[in-house]
Amino acid sequence: MENVNWSDLSFGYMKTDYNVRCYFRDGKWGELEVSSSDIINIHMAATCLHYGQEAFEGLKAFRGKDGKTRVFRMDENAKRMQASSRGIMMAEFPVEKFEEAVRKVVKLNERFIPPYESGSSLYIRPLLIGIGAQVGVKPADEYLFLVFVTPVGPYFKGGFKPAPVCIMRDYDRAAPHGTGTIKVGGNYAASMVAGEKAHKGGYAAVLYLDPREKKYIDECGPANFFGIRGNNYITPASHSILPSITNKSLIQLAQDMGLTVERRPVPIEELATFDEAAECGTAAVIAPISRIDDLDENKSYVYSKDGKPGQVCERLYNKLRGIQYGDEPDVHNWVSIIE
Ligand code: PLP
Ligand code: COI
Repeated sequence: MENVNWSDLSFGYMKTDYNVRCYFRDGKWGELEVSSSDIINIHMAATCLHYGQEAFEGLKAFRGKDGKTRVFRMDENAKRMQASSRGIMMAEFPVEKFEEAVRKVVKLNERFIPPYESGSSLYIRPLLIGIGAQVGVKPADEYLFLVFVTPVGPYFKGGFKPAPVCIMRDYDRAAPHGTGTIKVGGNYAASMVAGEKAHKGGYAAVLYLDPREKKYIDECGPANFFGIRGNNYITPASHSILPSITNKSLIQLAQDMGLTVERRPVPIEELATFDEAAECGTAAVIAPISRIDDLDENKSYVYSKDGKPGQVCERLYNKLRGIQYGDEPDVHNWVSIIE
């Protein structure tokens, strides 16, 4: 395609050719439909608009050196979307249908998959919303699943470059037994005030503490957290964080590399003991953290002074990207080639 600078894309929306949709009506899912419009037409009393019956996912397709297109762990996103649906009483979209929709939308928008050399990728955004009209607070009887794609560059400016994050105890993105473990829009709405405040202060993201005691590390606004100490990969276990597919993959890769993985509550004091720290997620990939400023306690934890990522983060990053772009063997069967 002309006029697209593939290596200089931001993480934003670009209109592509097609999206794929599917409706749940009369108690069952219909056939996949292809649309070239980026507009949806829904009832003004739809439950997604009033009561937050909305869940989304995020995954990526990568163009390899061999020209092939690879999608990373889409079965995991399909299952997580089902978990989100159970959490807010929406109809569950079948895993096989989810995979079929992803294959279809990627194939139909092939000309928008950034070339290998660019380091960019095609972001895939599945969405599930309640479209049935209700005025009382109850689940809709009709749902719309849709999936669109858009070519993207790094989520955090500068890509794989350390950036600072901050801790602010006056804000939570999720409640102790709330919706933090599922991917619903309300969590992101709840994170916007703190997120904007952090951005204004020059931070890439907020690092949230556990909402009950504020004693343990939870996760960042759009990504999980991990720290590296010596040969250990340490990442929080919590009832209020999203089970990240990237983190799950990095845990496996860390073990493959001979690191010891610890997945457990991580007390805030432990931040002082890490050699490296990072955010991880589909959009963020691995975003190294240069410094964590605890704005309430007036304390800073510094992980990178020279503007370079730590060595372990770098090895994990290269391994993960290598598998996604097809440069490294896919020993765990994470990648689906789109024919
Ligand atoms: N945590 C939150 C709150 C997120 O929004 C995301 C992004 O999806 C992640 C973690 C990372 O999850 P994944 O690696 O599955 O993209
Ligand atoms: C992702 O990593 O896919 C996300 O959903 C993060 C953010 C854009 C919400």
